[in-house]
Parts: sequence; C-alpha cells; structure tokens
Amino acid sequence: MSSFFSALIIVGVLGSLLAFFLILQMNNRTNNKPGQTTGHNYDGIEEYDNPLPAWWYWGFIATIIFGLGYLAYYPGLGNFSGLSNWTQINQLEVEQAVADERYGPIFAQYRDIPIDTLTSNPAAMKMGHRLFINNCAVCHGAAATGSLGFPNLTDEEWLWGGDGTTIETTLRHGRNAMMPAWSSVLSNQDIKEVTEYVLSLSGREVGAALASSGQAHFMTYCTMCHGPEGKGQAMFGAPNLTNDIWLYGNSRARIEQVIKHGGNGAMPSFESRLGSDKVHILAAYVKSLGES
Ligand code: HEC
Ligand code: HEC
Repeated sequence: MSSFFSALIIVGVLGSLLAFFLILQMNNRTNNKPGQTTGHNYDGIEEYDNPLPAWWYWGFIATIIFGLGYLAYYPGLGNFSGLSNWTQINQLEVEQAVADERYGPIFAQYRDIPIDTLTSNPAAMKMGHRLFINNCAVCHGAAATGSLGFPNLTDEEWLWGGDGTTIETTLRHGRNAMMPAWSSVLSNQDIKEVTEYVLSLSGREVGAALASSGQAHFMTYCTMCHGPEGKGQAMFGAPNLTNDIWLYGNSRARIEQVIKHGGNGAMPSFESRLGSDKVHILAAYVKSLGES
C-alpha cells in the first residue's frame, strides 16, 4: 500500500473514533435539565432532556478504548503491522505446523514400506485417494483418467515410467516435456507426410505414398526421442506412438497440430508442497491405479 493511502486510512479510522467520542460528549453535556421535556412531542410521546444513563455512557467509552487497543495490537491502521505482528500467513504457518505435528506420524508410518507392498495396504490407499482428490484431481481428474494434455494414470502407457520409484521421482521433482515445434524446420507438406507416417505406426489406414515419404522425416528428426520404432523413450517423456493412447487427441488434425506446434506438458513438483511422506503414499496410490 502506498504511504498516501496508508495515511488516509489512519486519519480516517482514528478520526472516526474521535468523532464518536465528541458526539458522545455533546450528547452528555452537563446543561441537561433532568425531568423536563425538550418540547418534542410526537403522537403523545414526549422527549425528556435526561443525560445518558451512566452504564450506557461508559459502555461507549469502553468500546472506544477497546477499538484503540485492537488497532494497536492487530494490523488495521494502514501499513502499521500491529504490536502482535499477526498476519494470515503467520497464522496459517502456525496451524500447518500444528497439523504436521499431529498428523505427520500418520503419514510417516508408511515411509519405509516399499511402494510395491504399500499398494496392497487398504488404509494407505484410502489416504492416497484423499491426497489425490485434494492435490491431483484438478488436472488428472477425480478418477485419474486425465484429459487432453493431462495423462491418464490408470492405463498401461507411461510417459516417464510406471515403476514405483520412477512415479515417486515424477511426483517429487515434477516433469517438463519438450516436444519441439516442427513448423520452423519442416514444410507443411513434410508435416502432412510425417503425420501420415505417425498414424500408420498404430495401424491406422493411411496413404501409402505420403507415409513412406513421412518415414524418411521421422527417421531424421523424430527417432532421437520417440525411438526408431516410434515406441517412445521414458528418458525424454516421449510417448509411444504405436498404440491408440494419445495425450493430445487421436484425430489426424490434432496429431498434426502437436507435430507443428510441439508440446510442453508440465507436471508440477510436490516434494516441497506435500513433504516426502505424503508423496510416497501418493506414488503407491498412482501405482495401484495402473494395477487394478
Ligand atoms: C526432443 C525430443 C522429441 C523429438 C525430437 C520429437 N518429439 Fe514428439 N514428443 C516428445 C515429447 C516429450 C512429447 C510429449 C509432449 C508432452 O507431453 O507435452 C511428444 C509428443 C508427440 C506427439 C503427441 C503424442 C500424443 O500422445 O498425443 C506426437 C504425435 C509426436 N510427438 C510426434 C513427433 C514427430 C513426428 C517428431 C519428429 C518430426 C517428434 N515428435 C520429435 C519429444 C520429442
Ligand atoms: C497443474 C496440473 C497438474 C497437477 C496438479 C498434477 N499433475 Fe501430474 N501431470 C500433469 C501433466 C501436464 C503431466 C504430463 C507431463 C508431460 O506431458 O510429460 C503430468 C504427469 C504426471 C505423471 C507421469 C505420467 C506418465 O505417464 O509418466 C504422474 C505419475 C502424475 N502426473 C501424477 C500426479 C499426481 C499424483 C499428482 C498430485 C500429487 C499430480 N500429478 C498433479 C499435470 C498435473
């Protein structure tokens, strides 16, 4: 907040407290005439000129003092952070530390159980499911079946590898796919041809002549990551192109789009967000999805 607005807020808040106090004093002036009416009369109801009852007057004074105390202790006066240094972030951190201390051991008990064994532990998998819904479902879907650009975690295809340790590495550090955009290297015709060849890899019906020219481009530009047979390479997160599982859609148009413009799927890292114990349980949960 700029110091101008900070000052404006301080003047406004303290000014209105002062105004309350002054109005209170004006209404409580000593020249009241107790027992006499002010002359105001409405439908037979008369207004008397009595002072405020003392408990009421001191009640107002108490609220003003409370307000001043509150504004000194908590943030409220512009940029002044209050004597307590309270912030929402501080409070969240304290609450998180308390929660970690209380619930941490529940997650830690599975720390040393290998992922392949953990997958058959119902209590751990129930926990994994809840962690998944809270942290992963936004992208991979509640049933982990994914959507365009977000891989299905329940099928047998893995971009980066489907064994327990690799899944755990994926969750810990995240992954960044680098499928180059080929529109600057290959002509539109070349891209049409290589698309045709890619389609042929999964047994789709294609134009033979186009596909065979496409194969030459594939061998030159694509095998480094997708492998000579197009079966993919987990080291690069390069998908297998020979089955009917497509991250970006299976239509000819979509496949051509990916080849033209590339793909940079980004899986966030969760180590610092969730801690390694929760990641371990989640890795086992993801592993179990592929097994059922
Ligand atoms: C540097 C490594 C690399 C090279 C070279 C490369 N790719 Fe890829 N490709 C990838 C990666 C990684 C992905 C996954 C992208 C993602 O996850 O966002 C991918 C994805 C794809 C897809 C989408 C697959 C799907 O499931 O939707 C197609 C199609 C594809 N590549 C074709 C090609 C073709 C054709 C070439 C050569 C012209 C090529 N790639 C060259 C790494 C590469
Ligand atoms: C912001 C979206 C997002 C969130 C949240 C997210 N993911 Fe991902 N995840 C992705 C994307 C995108 C990819 C694919 C990366 C690529 O293209 O290579 C991916 C890839 C993966 C992979 C690798 C799949 C393979 O085939 O190798 C696993 C496993 C995974 N996610 C599990 C999880 C789990 C478990 C969580 C929750 C802790 C999670 N993801 C949260 C977007 C997300």
